[in-house]
Amino acid sequence: MLPIAIVYHSETGNTARMAELVAEGCRSVDGRIEVRLMTIFEPDVDYLRRAKAIIFGCPTYEASCSWQMKRYFDTAGPELEGKLAGFFVSQNWPGGGGASVAELTMIAAALVRGMLVYSGGITQGQPYLHLGAVSTRNPDADPLYRERCLHLGAVIARKALELFGA
Ligand SMILES: Cc1cc2nc3c(=O)[nH]c(=O)nc-3n(C[C@H](O)[C@H](O)[C@H](O)COP(=O)(O)O)c2cc1C
Repeated sequence: MLPIAIVYHSETGNTARMAELVAEGCRSVDGRIEVRLMTIFEPDVDYLRRAKAIIFGCPTYEASCSWQMKRYFDTAGPELEGKLAGFFVSQNWPGGGGASVAELTMIAAALVRGMLVYSGGITQGQPYLHLGAVSTRNPDADPLYRERCLHLGAVIARKALELFGA
């Protein structure tokens, strides 16, 4: 089995729903993928130590990642090092809400923690992920937002299998 963790912050449920879809995308790739979801408030550190990939999600706050997610990275232990990392973000204002900055802030933190950052970019087909998966509010409101989350899960799971095997 190949363990993947999804670590997220969500106050009103939009990022939590994205996390469920990302997990579904991971599981769709291969029966050997094991996925566990956890919030930043209750990280399963034993599982994170075993995980080969960790996918992080948070809302956009003040055109960046939520301060709660930033605090998670600031206080995380060595369990993140060497893992493949992917990212998803919820926002309220498409075209200027700051989701890309939120993603880049998490990406910087993941690099500082020694993670292997990946999105597949525009190489893995549509919907293009660029820095990661972005949704405006609830991802079920638009098929594109749902597809981005499913695609992110699948892209990270495939790359984790390629890099680490099952
Ligand atoms: C304190 C605060 C600041 C926010 N700042 C932004 C922002 O700068 N840009 C934006 O698009 N949405 C902003 N939002 C909206 C949230 O990103 C959006 O509602 C998101 O879907 C919430 O995710 P959640 O349901 O997982 O908590 C803000 C929300 C809060 C509570």
